[in-house]
Amino acid sequence: MNRSIPRPTEGSLAPLEAGTVTLVGGGPGDPGLLTVAGLQALQQADVVLVDHLAPQESLAQCRPDCEQVWVGKLPRGEFVAQERINELLVKHALAGRRVVRFKGGDNFVFGRGGEEWQACAQAGVAVRIIPGVTSSVAAPALAGIPVTHRSLVQGFTVVSGHVPPGDPRSQLDWAALAATRTTLVVLMGVKYLPQIAEALVQHGMDPQTPAAVVERAGQPQMRQVRGPLGQIATLSRDVHPPAVTVIGEVAGLQLG
Ligand SMILES: C[S@@+](CC[C@H](N)C(=O)[O-])C[C@H]1O[C@@H](n2cnc3c(N)ncnc32)[C@H](O)[C@@H]1O
Repeated sequence: MNRSIPRPTEGSLAPLEAGTVTLVGGGPGDPGLLTVAGLQALQQADVVLVDHLAPQESLAQCRPDCEQVWVGKLPRGEFVAQERINELLVKHALAGRRVVRFKGGDNFVFGRGGEEWQACAQAGVAVRIIPGVTSSVAAPALAGIPVTHRSLVQGFTVVSGHVPPGDPRSQLDWAALAATRTTLVVLMGVKYLPQIAEALVQHGMDPQTPAAVVERAGQPQMRQVRGPLGQIATLSRDVHPPAVTVIGEVAGLQLG
């Protein structure tokens, strides 16, 4: 049996097993948006590898003897290398511990959860996933923006803006994105928002298309900036990551 394939009968509230890794999505930052299963996993863990975007307050729910390993941003803005994180996950699991990998949002949405699963599987370590509330949906929702709205839009597209349009490392087709007629949700897009907005307009999107930038959703410092696509980069120039950008008619809705 492939130990990395979760048994279908295993409910999300099944106890953690010794020598396994559980990938837990922590949601956008509000501890109330961590799932019941995610909270239970934290309470049972022997060791937790935690990132800077995971809800830090939830760590208070860990057992006093639980080892908490910080693998998020380092003081000078550096990160712990993914290879090192993979090694730590495997090392602790092979030592027979119940390991939780605790991240913001959902581990499989720009969270490198797939790579961590593969690294564990290669080492014969069983993996389980507890999905999280991804910021790609939660940030718009908390700002009062439904990513779909009957009669307005029939889908949404989530992309990463960590490299700008035209960059050789970009795999995205910005012309196609400009033409999808779905709500566009951009993660990691603060730095290159001017280039992203410009590319969408160049490829035919109306500069009057409503847009919104939602910063630190679910956290006390949360705020949002709304405006037309053609001006959103200027209007949100003092926004800092983490922030999600929403582009499409839904960003112009005032639900109340
Ligand atoms: C590396 S990605 C991780 C995404 C995460 N796995 C998820 O599902 O939400 C980091 C990006 O997620 C977005 N993000 C995460 N948490 C956020 C929050 N609380 N408010 C706004 N954006 C957030 C930002 O775009 C940030 O740059």
